[in-house]
Amino acid sequence: MKQLLKKALIFLFVFGVSVVLVRFIANYETSAEEGFPSLKTYKVERGLSDDAKKCIECHAVENPGIVADWANSRHAHVNVSCLDCHAASAADKDISKKHLNNIDTKISAVVSPKDCSRCHQAEAEEYSLSKHANTLELIWKIDPWLNHGMNNELERATGCIYCHGSIVKLEDGKLDSMTWPNVGVGRINTDGSKGSCSSCHTKHLFSKAEARKPEACAQCHLGPDHPQIEIYYESKHGAIYKAEGDKWKWDSAPGTWTAGVDYRAPTCSTCHMSGVGDVPTTHDVTERLAWETQAPLTVRPDKFKPWPAKTDWKEEREKMKKVCLECHSPSWTDGHFVRFDKTVENYNEVYYKPMKKRIDDLYEKKLLSKEKNLDEKLEIDMYELWHHEGRRARFGAAMMAPDYAWWHGFYELKKRCMEMDEEIDKILEENKPAKVFDVKGTGGDTTKPKF
Ligand code: HEC
Ligand code: HEC
Ligand code: HEC
Ligand code: HEC
Ligand code: HEC
Ligand code: HEC
Ligand code: HEC
Ligand code: HEC
Repeated sequence: MKQLLKKALIFLFVFGVSVVLVRFIANYETSAEEGFPSLKTYKVERGLSDDAKKCIECHAVENPGIVADWANSRHAHVNVSCLDCHAASAADKDISKKHLNNIDTKISAVVSPKDCSRCHQAEAEEYSLSKHANTLELIWKIDPWLNHGMNNELERATGCIYCHGSIVKLEDGKLDSMTWPNVGVGRINTDGSKGSCSSCHTKHLFSKAEARKPEACAQCHLGPDHPQIEIYYESKHGAIYKAEGDKWKWDSAPGTWTAGVDYRAPTCSTCHMSGVGDVPTTHDVTERLAWETQAPLTVRPDKFKPWPAKTDWKEEREKMKKVCLECHSPSWTDGHFVRFDKTVENYNEVYYKPMKKRIDDLYEKKLLSKEKNLDEKLEIDMYELWHHEGRRARFGAAMMAPDYAWWHGFYELKKRCMEMDEEIDKILEENKPAKVFDVKGTGGDTTKPKF
């Protein structure tokens, strides 16, 4: 009974909103180039179209959660309806056949950045340039788990691909459950576009306030190899966010979200994405970076061979510094970056390069085998040296978390190097190849998928 009442209330609310509001509706012009949506023009009209009403009517009963989120969203308030995002064009490959039992209008479940780009062209274009959008190509190029087939399809679907994005596949006109649902940042959609806008703006609220909070990034940016959220919470900035963030203003218009007025400490979004002072908002997270601190050897972004960024690190560093200068003095800001840059050098020269040299020497002497990656203990050690504590030391220094820079970072690096040195010395002394481990039944496909 309560359920019924709840559904009825949502239904009434939605209709209240949709009938009263003056609204914009879309002109569905098909563009000259098949499959590319034309930019939308608006005309002011009252009420929703009959089709659009039907979606809401029926779904308010089928999935009241979805309709309630939509009704609370900015989209509902400017009358962007279900149809504006889900209407399938003739060129869409993922038209839901089963859904034609509900309504004649063709719909598709996948709403790609290309669909959003009809109204948000700038965001979609910036996003398409970022490493977020292009991550699948990149990780297939360089990651041993994938290109050496070290994990199986299921482990990938529930792990790597969940964060990085799937290549959405259709089987007999239905979405393949190994690739869907998925909201990874570099998802390849059935229309060929890259990414998923709902990895940060969850459906169907699609809120900018949500994306400005650090938790929006935390599903992926955590754990032993990229603990940005833990680092943030441990920094003074994060501590201030936790203490008073609930009193800040989160929904100011883009470019007007102001340091010192709306908030007093930066979040991930402030430093990496938001418009701050005269630094414009960006959906390309590769901007504002001067290093590749996740790489084995830290290099400048334009020198990162698997995916050379098209940025100039000096300009990007200036942008990042301008963000800091909204709240800090130049000497405070410069001091931080001088220390950070020296930390990067310390990692490269003291830990990574010398250990890489010792490992390469073992490969040359055939005491380690290059045949497969990560099947000898020393290979795992070398991997974790840069991928785990080596990253933590660099990220901790970049984002002001001393516990990560030292205890989870350089301290662990020292310990790892001691253990590796001991093992390497032993192998050299005995002149006997390192033991190879083979966990049976764990391998996966090694063919690089087409993008
Ligand atoms: C008469 C009820 C009804 C109407 C009208 C209706 N739907 Fe649905 N819709 C459903 C049901 C039931 C499902 C789940 C099963 C299915 O796909 O048929 C569904 C599923 C969906 C899905 C998910 C499809 C998938 O493959 O995961 C989307 C998206 C959707 N509807 C959007 C819409 C839109 C947009 C409209 C308006 C054009 C609409 N619906 C109108 C009942 C309806
Ligand atoms: C601003 C665009 C937008 C609008 C408006 C919108 N949707 Fe969606 N919808 C999405 C996105 C994005 C997804 C997630 C699929 C994806 O990641 O591509 C989705 C997913 C869905 C799903 C499947 C997800 C699930 O959790 O089962 C259903 C059903 C659905 N929408 C129904 C609706 C209905 C009904 C409305 C209107 C009340 C609506 N949508 C309005 C963008 C939109
Ligand atoms: C919890 C989400 C998550 C999972 C699971 C995950 N990754 Fe990642 N991965 C990330 C994030 C976030 C980064 C960015 C690291 C950074 O820049 O700090 C990343 C970075 C990478 C990079 C470095 C890319 C570069 O620019 O150098 C590779 C390669 C990679 N991941 C491959 C994988 C593979 C293969 C798996 C599964 C074995 C996997 N990841 C599992 C979130 C994830
Ligand atoms: C990595 C997380 C992330 C992803 C993915 C993402 N956004 Fe955003 N988006 C944000 C953040 C953070 C803001 C707030 C920026 C600010 O402070 O102004 C934002 C703001 C916006 C705004 C509000 C700006 C305005 O003009 O009203 C729109 C629209 C938007 N995003 C659309 C998109 C679209 C379309 C996509 C997919 C192409 C997308 N976003 C993907 C994080 C993301
Ligand atoms: C039919 C046009 C249209 C489509 C399609 C559309 N949007 Fe929007 N969106 C709008 C309008 C209009 C606004 C309100 C802008 C404003 O507040 O000035 C908006 C606002 C937003 C905002 C800011 C919300 C806030 O909190 O203020 C986000 C984020 C956003 N859209 C994301 C998306 C994403 C992601 C998609 C695709 C899944 C999408 N939009 C599809 C028209 C659209
Ligand atoms: C759904 C998972 C996911 C979410 C949510 C996410 N990211 Fe990422 N992010 C990734 C992955 C995966 C990578 C690694 C891409 C690569 O290097 O191939 C990455 C990389 C990055 C990078 C490094 C880019 C570069 O060029 O080296 C930055 C900066 C970043 N993300 C910031 C953010 C911010 C800020 C947010 C939240 C507003 C966010 N991310 C939300 C998965 C995510
Ligand atoms: C006070 C500003 C600030 C905040 C807050 C912040 N970052 Fe950063 N972040 C930086 C700086 C500075 C760097 C190093 C930039 C460089 O390359 O010079 C960095 C580096 C990164 C990198 C490594 C990129 C690479 O490829 O080397 C990722 C990923 C990242 N941040 C994500 C996040 C996430 C996610 C959050 C929130 C949980 C966050 N950052 C919070 C300033 C910040
Ligand atoms: C919105 C304002 C704001 C922005 C933007 C900002 N900070 Fe801060 N920052 C603060 C506040 C507030 C504190 C706490 C002051 C205190 O410790 O008394 C702080 C503290 C710090 C500290 C001291 C940390 C500690 O552990 O004591 C450093 C270092 C720092 N910020 C560096 C930066 C850098 C570098 C940037 C840019 C990448 C930046 N901040 C951006 C507001 C900001």
